Amino acid sequence: MKKTAQKTGGKNHGLAHLGGLTATQFMRTHWQKKPLLIRNAFPDFAGPLTKHEVLELAQREDAESRLIARSGKEWTLQHGPFTRRSFSAVKRAEWTVLIQDTQHFSGEAHDLLAYFNFIPHARVEDLMVSYAIPGAGVGPHVDTYDVFLLQGLGRRRWQISSQQDLRLKQGVPLKMLAHFRAEQELVLETGDMLYLPPGYAHNGIADSECLTWSVGFRAPSQQEVSIALLDYLRDEIAFGGQYRDPDLLPVAYPGEINAAMRRRFAGMFKEVVRATGSRAHQTRCLGRYLTDPKPHVFFDAPDAVLSMAAFRRAACRRGIMLDLKTRFLYADGLFFMNGGDVPIEVVDSRFLRPLADARTLTPHAVALVSRPSSFAALYGAYTNGYLHVG
Ligand code: SIN
Ligand code: CO
Repeated sequence: MKKTAQKTGGKNHGLAHLGGLTATQFMRTHWQKKPLLIRNAFPDFAGPLTKHEVLELAQREDAESRLIARSGKEWTLQHGPFTRRSFSAVKRAEWTVLIQDTQHFSGEAHDLLAYFNFIPHARVEDLMVSYAIPGAGVGPHVDTYDVFLLQGLGRRRWQISSQQDLRLKQGVPLKMLAHFRAEQELVLETGDMLYLPPGYAHNGIADSECLTWSVGFRAPSQQEVSIALLDYLRDEIAFGGQYRDPDLLPVAYPGEINAAMRRRFAGMFKEVVRATGSRAHQTRCLGRYLTDPKPHVFFDAPDAVLSMAAFRRAACRRGIMLDLKTRFLYADGLFFMNGGDVPIEVVDSRFLRPLADARTLTPHAVALVSRPSSFAALYGAYTNGYLHVG
């Protein structure tokens, strides 16, 4: 595949995979606003994985997969890992298998995600793939994600609707719209791509045996990020002080939490309000939250761990690359990897930002990292299996 810069282009260059729109035009007109169909967005698109590899992936313990089958009006949902027999057991039904996070298993899947580097990595959820037999689909629904649906093998018919009636069907194991009314029908062939904003109703039916790749962009709920901040503060903050009431006078109603008492507590809560508003706390919380791996994600430490000195020599000779599962982001001079802080010295931060942007760092760039403590932080990530030499 082409280099990242060519994939994303400058802000003012039309991008073939956006149908000739510049990234700016796409974002202004379509992103979070309205669908876009791009015919032949990826000419000769073979997809990062073959059908065989996709079905193998659904059999792995460390992959998150679902099998959705329909027989008449009866829908079933099963969670992986699956065996070959799981697929033959649904022979008489129309079935589809969906696998999340294919970028954890395939460098080519990451290369495909790099075409969307004009969108912050922090917004990326995953590259999902579905394999469907003819006639199969997951039913009409809405996603909370922005999604680019890229057709791989075969042909899929997408019915889409801007309807506001999002009531769900009862008695099915999936979130399915009860009253779907298709407004448009689009048949996507291999290499065609359809962008849908969050909340846009859609129903994909396989016209033939097909693989569909979904580039999904997460948008956390207010509830979820708020809880993340509160959890962060609970773990990170120790408040001093103690409740005091030297001005307390005898009370007539001892059962009451009276106004004076509530005022004293409010004074104590002010510290909490100040902490939740702190930019430093918010940034650190977001960095950890947005890089936090999903619960089923595990990293493998290297088989033979190099010493710190040997790691440095090897990295300066061969460069470094992030593990396929690693999430690495930066903000305000701070670096975050897989839910934790990476203490990079300020003088080295400009040399390490490209590792977060492009997922690899050239030998030349590694050699520019000057502070031993920055190298120690990279070495720690290496020993955890978060990044590799090469
Ligand atoms: C699929 O690929 O079958 C479903 C993708 C989606 O509707 O989001
Ligand atoms: Co969907």
